[in-house]
Amino acid sequence: MKFYAPYPVYAKRAKGGHLWDLDGNDYVDYMLCFGPMILGHGHPKVLEAIRKQMDRDGTVIFGPPHELEVRMAERLKRIFPFADLVRFTNSGLEATLHAIRIAQGVKRRFKIAKFEGAYHGSYDEVLVSLTPAVADAGPADAPKALSGSLSTTPAELANTVVLPLNDLDACNQILRAHRDEIAALVIEPVQRGFLVADPEFLKGLRETTRDLGILLVFDEIMSGFRMEKLGAYQNLVGVEPDLMTLGKIIGGGFPCGAFLGTAETMDAVNPVTRPPSERVFHGGTFNGHPTVLAAGLATLDVLEEPGTYPYLNRISDQLRDGLNNLFEDLRLPGQAIGPGSTFNIVFAKGPMRNYRDAAKADKKLRQLFDYGMLARGIHFHPDKPWYTCTAHTAEDVERTLTAAEDVLRKMA
Ligand SMILES: Cc1ncc(COP(=O)(O)O)c(C=O)c1O
Repeated sequence: MKFYAPYPVYAKRAKGGHLWDLDGNDYVDYMLCFGPMILGHGHPKVLEAIRKQMDRDGTVIFGPPHELEVRMAERLKRIFPFADLVRFTNSGLEATLHAIRIAQGVKRRFKIAKFEGAYHGSYDEVLVSLTPAVADAGPADAPKALSGSLSTTPAELANTVVLPLNDLDACNQILRAHRDEIAALVIEPVQRGFLVADPEFLKGLRETTRDLGILLVFDEIMSGFRMEKLGAYQNLVGVEPDLMTLGKIIGGGFPCGAFLGTAETMDAVNPVTRPPSERVFHGGTFNGHPTVLAAGLATLDVLEEPGTYPYLNRISDQLRDGLNNLFEDLRLPGQAIGPGSTFNIVFAKGPMRNYRDAAKADKKLRQLFDYGMLARGIHFHPDKPWYTCTAHTAEDVERTLTAAEDVLRKMA
């Protein structure tokens, strides 16, 4: 994931919204470690919380449960009121994996439904149809499940039902055809940071899954805390899942994940109410790591300050609007799209509603843009979304737009 040809930028140091490579080049950083660094690199309050936790507790990790787990769980429950219980993991991958396992255990069904082009972590079941070649992927309203890794087993492929984003009729038909087999429908409500599920579509999925007894899982690992205000996409549209996953930002830059659920679903892992034979096993040496949670809580503290989101929105809009103005002025078919503090740059005209729309984008133009920007001191992962942070300044945006104008003029 970190590689791109001929070789990626190797980082040496980072501070605020900037990153320096081994040769000492200064970049404005829009990778931000694929999202977690929403306050920028080395935020003083986050660094202080990390140091304090270690000084206060005398160790980096205890083993037994501790206060920070409870504080983080209570904080997340306040922000996501559908959730009664919270469990921690060490990555987003683990969070979706365990949410899916819980659904399979609760329902005693073993298929999962996921969307074409959606990413839920690096394991075989959810890598199915991550970046399928459209020519091989069947009709848009009945996508074929295609392996996303040579390691995928035939059983995993057969157990994954692939859905088209924002086509409720097609989803309903596919879900009904597998009605007694699917345990969970897992969705990124803002797929890859830019393909937004329509509120009506999400409401429709909520109704259908409830009807068919399928558990609805919102994977908000990427969209969590990156919308226009505190919370995730579900808070904006008022649709509640049965389970949700978080990661990235809640660890303040350390490895982290969490899954949250209703009491009814999360009871599956409850060692008090259930004997082992009736339980879904969940455990992990480093789950709920105190240093990680201290950094995450400090990050949420800053995000909850009244000025934080208005500033982040302003910077993100300036950047997005500036890029879109350049595309328009230079008559290039580009668009910077996505809500909140994440967006993608797609060289294609027209609405972007699902994987197939995005797959029509001109990859060659995107590559020219990406490498031109990298060469001019703007850092992000080629062909991936951009993330903004509260440490980005108006000068950073100006420097970025000046570089973009230079690159795009040569492309026009
Ligand atoms: C929506 C989504 N789910 C899951 C993951 C996996 O998280 P991690 O990389 O922490 O395993 C990611 C990571 O980018 C993600 O964006």
